[in-house]
Amino acid sequence: MTRLNEVSASVSWKSPSNLAIVKYWGKQGNQEPLNPSISFSLEKSFTQTTITAKPSEDGGFTFLLDGQKKENFNSKIEQFLNKVRPFFPFLKNHHLVIESHNSFPHSSGIASSASAMSALAHCLVSLHQLSLGKNFNEIDKIMVSGVARLGSGSACRSVYGGWSLWGKTPAIANSSNMYAIALDNNIHPVFHSLKDTILLVDPTPKKVSSSRGHQLMENHPYRQARIKQANENTEKLLHILASGDIHSFLNLAENETLSLHGLMMSSTPSYTLLHPNTINLITLIQEKRGKEGWPVGFSLDAGPNIHLLYPASHQQPIVEWINKDLRPYCHQGNMIHDSLGQGPELIKI
Ligand code: PMV
Repeated sequence: MTRLNEVSASVSWKSPSNLAIVKYWGKQGNQEPLNPSISFSLEKSFTQTTITAKPSEDGGFTFLLDGQKKENFNSKIEQFLNKVRPFFPFLKNHHLVIESHNSFPHSSGIASSASAMSALAHCLVSLHQLSLGKNFNEIDKIMVSGVARLGSGSACRSVYGGWSLWGKTPAIANSSNMYAIALDNNIHPVFHSLKDTILLVDPTPKKVSSSRGHQLMENHPYRQARIKQANENTEKLLHILASGDIHSFLNLAENETLSLHGLMMSSTPSYTLLHPNTINLITLIQEKRGKEGWPVGFSLDAGPNIHLLYPASHQQPIVEWINKDLRPYCHQGNMIHDSLGQGPELIKI
């Protein structure tokens, strides 16, 4: 490919969304987390972004979502680009045309900032490589993760496939608050083939953003207890992922989820993002697990939609049960049968 600077160049990356099992909630300093978090990348929920950099002194950008100009995203992208300008000198003399597409409907209630910011960070680092006359596909994932973090904290974990960890923990020597690392070693096979059926309970936009939720941790009465709990759950989850103990995994996932939503309810001002059908579904899931002994449990992001977690070995009876008993609680019966995925991909254009 031609060296950037003289001519236009385009790169395209597809990046997954991720689901945190130990949740990041609350920030410090420059977009550093209050506590470590662990997540896995999804397979089917992703953003594909193409950036065309055209030589121009304006240093600006145009953003298109599914081929349409979307001006309401401009201020978030502009803030992000301003933060990362010092790392990417080529931004000064190029105009970027940023074209994005989400695999899931924008109104589905699935948070797209992790996949979107990760895809954007991959494209910027590839274009940076080109501007230095280097190979655009040999990118430093630590750099991509650090850049993605400045767009959205959880995005820094979306730069890998499988499991990843963000935030300093004494349990992992090279862990950092600045970027996520891949947890390649010590993952039991049961957790390599995890299923995640996303039950879309309510597609309406969130009443309170995650940015506001992070802010409310600043003076939260349970702040110190939360930091302690998340650090302990990080260490526990690392052991569970190595051992393959699926029941302890599901208990920990539910404990983290209900703690996250408990923190929202006990913030000042207090709020909840739970929908009546979120509670109906949680009740059905816990009842089923109690009755059948099935390895099935739930997690939630900062929203009302349920991520139903179970191992591939139990897929058939669980999917039958979902269709019969759980689908009626989903908005227009909508759900996404997702699973743990292999991570970002450079797309040939
Ligand atoms: O990355 P943000 O600022 O959108 O925050 C995401 C927070 C949670 O999704 C609730 C938890 C997490 O670790 O992903």
